[in-house]
Amino acid sequence: MAYLTIYRDGDEPSLTLATDDEAEIREALAAKGVEYARWPVVEGLADDASSDDVLAAYAEPIAQLSEEQGYVLVDVAGLHPSDDPGWAATAAGARQKFLTEHTHADDEVRFFAAGSGIFYLHLDDDVYAVLGEQGDLLSVPKGTTHWFDMGTQPNFTAVRFFRDENGWVGDFTGNPIAERIPDFDTIVAGRGA
Ligand SMILES: [Fe+2]
Repeated sequence: MAYLTIYRDGDEPSLTLATDDEAEIREALAAKGVEYARWPVVEGLADDASSDDVLAAYAEPIAQLSEEQGYVLVDVAGLHPSDDPGWAATAAGARQKFLTEHTHADDEVRFFAAGSGIFYLHLDDDVYAVLGEQGDLLSVPKGTTHWFDMGTQPNFTAVRFFRDENGWVGDFTGNPIAERIPDFDTIVAGRGA
């Protein structure tokens, strides 16, 4: 179940909303043109299941959404804790890649089959931090200023949807706003506090 926190931006950003109520999250995001939905979770799928297994498990909703929205490419991206000696560097590198504000020419559409990550949507003077968890589908409209934090211990499996494989590159704004908004680790630690 997702968790939404909203921050009013400023020198010291202030928290204006924190909720894990599904309907409240859906309404708050819909008011900003951002679609949030939940899919029934397929039980028995390992957190580190192969891409083929993830795509097979969710084949029905994936096909339906792709047809509705015109997605031509679907893949699976994920990162999970590992004993591999290179894992810390891999995790840090992956986290850094989209940790600063950017936009895309296509929607950024993600379904969390396992684990979690936070999409930070910079909308006018507010930042909507949407923690996506297993069963959550989020569609960030093209052109939306945003960033993504998978935390210092990345653990997620996400199905990604594209209309054009080439359209999905990051266009970085240079705005350092991400540095003053609480990061993934901080928000997760403070949840329910
Ligand atoms: Fe992005």
